[in-house]
Amino acid sequence: MTSAPLVHRFNKAVFELEEEKAFEYAAMASELAKRGVKIISFGIGQPDFQTPEHVVEEAVRALKAGFTRYVPPPGIPELREAIAEHASEFTGTGDIRPEEVMVLPGAKPGLFFTITAFVGPGDEVMVPDPGFPIYESVVRYAGGKPVFCELKAEEDFRMKPEHVQELITGRTKMIILNSPHNPTGAMCHPSDIKGILELAQEKGIIVLSDEVYDHYVYGEVPFKSVLSDPDWRDFVIYVNSFSKTWSMTGWRLGYVIADREVVKRLSLMAVNSYSCTCSFVQKAGVAALRGPMDFFKEVLSEYRRRRDLAVKLLSSIPGVEVKPAPGTFYLFPSVKEILAQTGLSTEELAIRVLKSKGVVIERFKEAVEELLSAS
Ligand SMILES: Cc1ncc(COP(=O)(O)O)c(C=O)c1O
Repeated sequence: MTSAPLVHRFNKAVFELEEEKAFEYAAMASELAKRGVKIISFGIGQPDFQTPEHVVEEAVRALKAGFTRYVPPPGIPELREAIAEHASEFTGTGDIRPEEVMVLPGAKPGLFFTITAFVGPGDEVMVPDPGFPIYESVVRYAGGKPVFCELKAEEDFRMKPEHVQELITGRTKMIILNSPHNPTGAMCHPSDIKGILELAQEKGIIVLSDEVYDHYVYGEVPFKSVLSDPDWRDFVIYVNSFSKTWSMTGWRLGYVIADREVVKRLSLMAVNSYSCTCSFVQKAGVAALRGPMDFFKEVLSEYRRRRDLAVKLLSSIPGVEVKPAPGTFYLFPSVKEILAQTGLSTEELAIRVLKSKGVVIERFKEAVEELLSAS
């Protein structure tokens, strides 16, 4: 009997999973660089700083001390404790408990587990548009329907309660918040966060808040975490990571904070997939949270300098409109006028920028492919 090729026999949910283009661009840019093409890549969101020395040293120490065995699925107790203390202080919540923390290999598994654990066929999930592509992809994988909350340039790309309210239906199961926001660098004002939380609470909707850029805040907009809501345990799942603040993207270390019963259930997803997060990496996480933070002052001031310079340079290009982003290390310039004047598509403009200046930015897949085949 002949059957369909293996690749056609996946559970059909698997076909809903999308690429994260930034990884493709990063790989292409490094391939071009290997071939001697001079490239400036704005492809993937990761700091170009080194992981702080004391964090690296602790990982090495733990490895050499033989801390290399299985550890508890929701994380080692000292890291859960350190996260609970850090998050209590940083968000102003004050009373987060270690049992309310689940350690994971990055923020992404936290997003994946939470979405697939709560969302099922027919459920609507509100996602920011533009937004981190993984939200939409995993919602579809879970059988849910992404509902796009458009973030508008004229509103500084804020996710506002009035827009959220318009999109809520009887099927809305979850609202995904991301402030500071990838890719616009926008931040919700504290009143936006408060309004969205009030709406969600009133309508019985879960809020999944991705706060991985919480330290990348330049001061124009005050930062407010969803954990500041006194009733957060009833309806909030919070996701964060060591990737951006401590320049640890490759280490894979993140965490979820939620009601302890939710953490217990989510931990079963770890038990049933990867067992536990890397043991010695967790020790390094403790060192990161308990160690000095002065290194980050330098990181932030360097990113502020780069932001201001990039805004100045971009603004000097006729047809480009851009505002300094209050958070993250992203900018989201508009090139609408250039497209209108030249008749070029975004892709065509991208090809020109890449070919003439070697600059890789989002949506440049075709451009890079073309260069790769020519080189
Ligand atoms: C908004 C957002 N959430 C989550 C992540 C992933 O974080 P991690 O490296 O901890 O999985 C990223 C990485 O780019 C991001 O931009």
